[in-house]
Amino acid sequence: MSEEIERGVGRRAVLCGCAGAAGAAVLAGCGAAGGATAAPADIRGRRLLPAAEVPVGGGRLVDEAKVVVTQPSAGVFKAFSAVCPHQGCMTSKVAGGKIHCPCHGSEFGLADGAVGRGPAAEGLREYPVRVEGGTVVGI
Ligand code: FES
Repeated sequence: MSEEIERGVGRRAVLCGCAGAAGAAVLAGCGAAGGATAAPADIRGRRLLPAAEVPVGGGRLVDEAKVVVTQPSAGVFKAFSAVCPHQGCMTSKVAGGKIHCPCHGSEFGLADGAVGRGPAAEGLREYPVRVEGGTVVGI
């Protein structure tokens, strides 16, 4: 399975083999990490995407919410603002274990949104999420 993930919810190009991990995630009820800050009001309570659509070691962009949801390890879901802190471009893809900004090449970590490569000087803002009924939801 390719690690490169297409943008948007509803595209199901890379889902095979993820059901087991998603089921584990539901059971784990994974949620926010210590670094997560309160999500904006339009994210809180929002059903972002099915957990099964987020590959382990990868992620998906939810364009309409301007959020990128990742699963850095099985059953652990994270969400970050998809807006690059460098100059405000939308990150465009998750590939090779990184979240990529197309404008000037910044890269961010899947697990913490931290800068892996600049020019961005700060990481992506993390939003708390949990899995409810198989769906990643902002909290
Ligand atoms: S706006 Fe993202 S790297 Fe410049």
